[in-house]
Amino acid sequence: MKIPFHRPDLPPDLNDLYSDSIKNGWLTTGKQVEMFEEKLSSYLGCEHVVVMNSCTAALHLSLASKGFDRGSKFIAPNYTFVSTVECGEYAGMEPILVDSDPQGFNIDLNHVDDILKKEKNIKAIIPVHYGGFPVDMKYVFELAEKYGLFVVEDAAHALESTSSAGKVGNTNHGAAFSFYANKNLTTFGEGGALATNDEDLAESVKNLSLHGITKDGWKRFDSGGKWEYDIIQLGYKYNMPDISASFGIWQLNQINDWQALRKNIVKRYLTGLENNEGIILPDYTKNDGNAWHLFVIQIKSNSWRINRNEIIDKLVEKGIGVSVHYKPIHMLDYYHRKFEFKSNDFPRSKALFDSVISLPLYPNLSDNEIDYIVATLNDLHTQYSK
Ligand SMILES: Cc1ncc(COP(=O)(O)O)c(C=O)c1O
Repeated sequence: MKIPFHRPDLPPDLNDLYSDSIKNGWLTTGKQVEMFEEKLSSYLGCEHVVVMNSCTAALHLSLASKGFDRGSKFIAPNYTFVSTVECGEYAGMEPILVDSDPQGFNIDLNHVDDILKKEKNIKAIIPVHYGGFPVDMKYVFELAEKYGLFVVEDAAHALESTSSAGKVGNTNHGAAFSFYANKNLTTFGEGGALATNDEDLAESVKNLSLHGITKDGWKRFDSGGKWEYDIIQLGYKYNMPDISASFGIWQLNQINDWQALRKNIVKRYLTGLENNEGIILPDYTKNDGNAWHLFVIQIKSNSWRINRNEIIDKLVEKGIGVSVHYKPIHMLDYYHRKFEFKSNDFPRSKALFDSVISLPLYPNLSDNEIDYIVATLNDLHTQYSK
C-alpha cells in the first residue's frame, strides 16, 4: 500500500470553480478575494480578515504594521517552523526563544512570565498553536495586558481551534493562518490570512500587502474605475490572487465536515495504537478545541532497539509517508550560528525533536489506510521492542 503524508481534496470540476474568474478575465486579487475574506470573517467570528499569499506574510505584516523600533524584542517558541521567528527579524526585531511546556509541545508560559519580569524592550509575543492544540490564550492576553505586548498568534495549524479565550482568530490583536498545500484548508498550494478585530491593524496590513498602494488593481482597472493611485508607505507584494481565493471558498465550505472526519481518524488511531507500549499518544481528552492539523506520536526510546529515524525508514519502506514537526529553531544552522546556541539550551524541544513522528491525517484517509498504518506500527514494535 502507498499512503502519502498528505493528499489534498480537490473539487470534482476545477473548471466550475474558476469559471467566474475565467469568464470575466480577472485572475488576480478581486471579487473572489473579497468574498473569501467575508466568509472567513464569519467562520472565525472576527471583524476583519486580510488574505495574503502566505502565513509568513501575515505574521510579518502584523509586526511591520506596529512599527516597533529596530532592536526591540519578541517572544516566540523554539519548537516551531522558521516562519514564526523570521517574520520578527524581517521587522528588525530580535527573538527571545522559549522552550516547550514540560507536558506538551506549546510554549512554556510559566517561563514567559519569568522573562517578562526581567527583560525590558519586549514588544510582542508570537504563540504557536502546535498541530492545532491551542495555547492558553486567556493567560497570554493577561500577560499582554500586564506588560503592554502585541500578540500575533501563529495560527498556521489552528483554523478550527478554540482556546481558553474563545475561537482562535476572534482577537483584538492578530492571528495569522496558513493555507499552504497540506494545511487543513489550502488556497491551491499557497496562501495565508490575518484575522483581527482591530480595524487599524487590518487596514494597515491590507495596504502593506500591496505595495502601500492607495487602490488595488481591481478598482483601478474595473470599468468606471480611475487609473490614479499613490504609494503612501513602503509596502510588499503579498496579495492573494482570485484563483486561489475561489479554491479557498470551496475548501471553506467543507471545513466543518472535514473537521468531523479528522476527529474520527484521530479516534481510530488512538484505539488502534492504545496497546503499543513503544509510543506516547496525543491526549484526545485534554482539549477538544484542537483543530487536529497533525497527529504526532512520540517514540519511547527505552522501549525500542531501533531509533526514531530508523522507525521512520521502516514506515517509509512500507509505503507510509510521515514527517517530523519540527527541527527546533536553535538547531537550524543560521540560528545556531547567529545566537551561538548550545545543543542543550532547549532540552524539552530537543527531546521532542528526537522522539516525534507525524502520521498522515487528512479527511480522505480511508479506514483501511488507517488500519494499515496502525498494524504496521504495532508490528514494528513487536519486532523491535527491547
Ligand atoms: C507553525 C507554522 N507557522 C508558520 C508557517 C508558515 O506558513 P506559510 O507557508 O503559509 O507561510 C507554517 C507552515 O508550515 C507553520 O507550520
